[in-house]
Amino acid sequence: MPEAWREVPPTAGLPLRWRDFLPPRGRSLEAGLAALLQLPPVQVECSGTAALIVALTTLKQLSPRRSVVIPAYTCPLVALAIVHCGLKPVLCDLRKDHFDLCLRTLEATCDDDTLAIIPTHLGGRLADVAGVKKIAQGSGAMVIEDAAQALGATCQGRPAGASGDIGFYSLAVGKGLSLYEGGVLVTRDAGLRARLRETSERLAPYRPARELQRLLQLAGYAALYRPAGLRLAYGLPLRRALGKGRLIEAVGDDFTDAIPRHRVGAWRRAIGANALGRLPLFLEKLSRQAATRKARLATIPGIRVMDDPEGGRGTWPYFMVLMPGVQARDAALAQLWSTGLGVSRLFIHALPDYPYLAAPLGGADVPHARDFAARMLTVSNSPWLREADFLRVCAVLAEHA
Ligand SMILES: Cc1ncc(COP(=O)(O)O)c(C=O)c1O
Repeated sequence: MPEAWREVPPTAGLPLRWRDFLPPRGRSLEAGLAALLQLPPVQVECSGTAALIVALTTLKQLSPRRSVVIPAYTCPLVALAIVHCGLKPVLCDLRKDHFDLCLRTLEATCDDDTLAIIPTHLGGRLADVAGVKKIAQGSGAMVIEDAAQALGATCQGRPAGASGDIGFYSLAVGKGLSLYEGGVLVTRDAGLRARLRETSERLAPYRPARELQRLLQLAGYAALYRPAGLRLAYGLPLRRALGKGRLIEAVGDDFTDAIPRHRVGAWRRAIGANALGRLPLFLEKLSRQAATRKARLATIPGIRVMDDPEGGRGTWPYFMVLMPGVQARDAALAQLWSTGLGVSRLFIHALPDYPYLAAPLGGADVPHARDFAARMLTVSNSPWLREADFLRVCAVLAEHA
């Protein structure tokens, strides 16, 4: 295929096969996910954000507390979901040079209004949930683990997302497993699980037109999620947005508070169940590729690659690379972002700096999150990124670091 037609995705998702659209060959999506996560029955929702809304609405009914503490650098949908539920998002700054919550700041931030804390496993990397749980117990808050980007990761042998009171995962486009849009909600607590189910039945009716739209989008995804198709589906809109300087649009952070809520239909769940059978081997393959490429990236003086703590086995959709400064990061991106080699940015801003979050969050003082947003870029760990292209990326990073 000519070079100019190829596009590597910024994150390594599991490609769908047409066979996945045939009737289910084994267990249901819910049963397959429960087995993967070593958990009791799981709940499938129409997105990770919808799963979070079900969780927050349920907790709100159980407690008079109204604040929800989140990392100051995370998916803006998390803040929008909290506001959507009539709750108050409270930002906690990050550890310096890291994506995870600063536990000292967290301790000072939590009070007797804290309903929940949301530690977040970003980019498949593991957050310190044990540290958050200690602080949550001290302040009487619940822990909702955001494992939207970490389905299949484990820490000390335990699945990421399964240590908090509630956990959720995203099955959106580009995630390990995708239903085009989808989410999974989990808890070990049987009483809470029954309540989450009740809330979901109330909030998410079956909407046939929306389901048909998602099914067609999923078929389009199956057709185009490959190096030639991605040029059209991902590369063209990306370059158009970059050409106009619209960075929020370029990474798909241009969200609104209109968050769809509906059931996921049986056919889409069956497609997910069929694809799920291939996920463990796919994650293993990414992990092997990540081990050598991470080591190669780590030899570049001046940069830092996010990794897992001891005992952590994260997933590897992409590498989070921290450059020495904003100029170095932007110079590397100027050379790489539109070349189709899978180099990108994650969330463009720390949360208070999105114009649409200025009302609930503006003015928050979160220097480490702002610094992380300003210096970080992502390098795809897609198996479609050829070794020679990966080395080209490393050379550009080395030049600017
Ligand atoms: C960290 C994080 N949390 C929550 C979400 C929301 O998930 P969804 O897009 O499935 O609604 C995302 C989406 O990418 C995410 O990255």
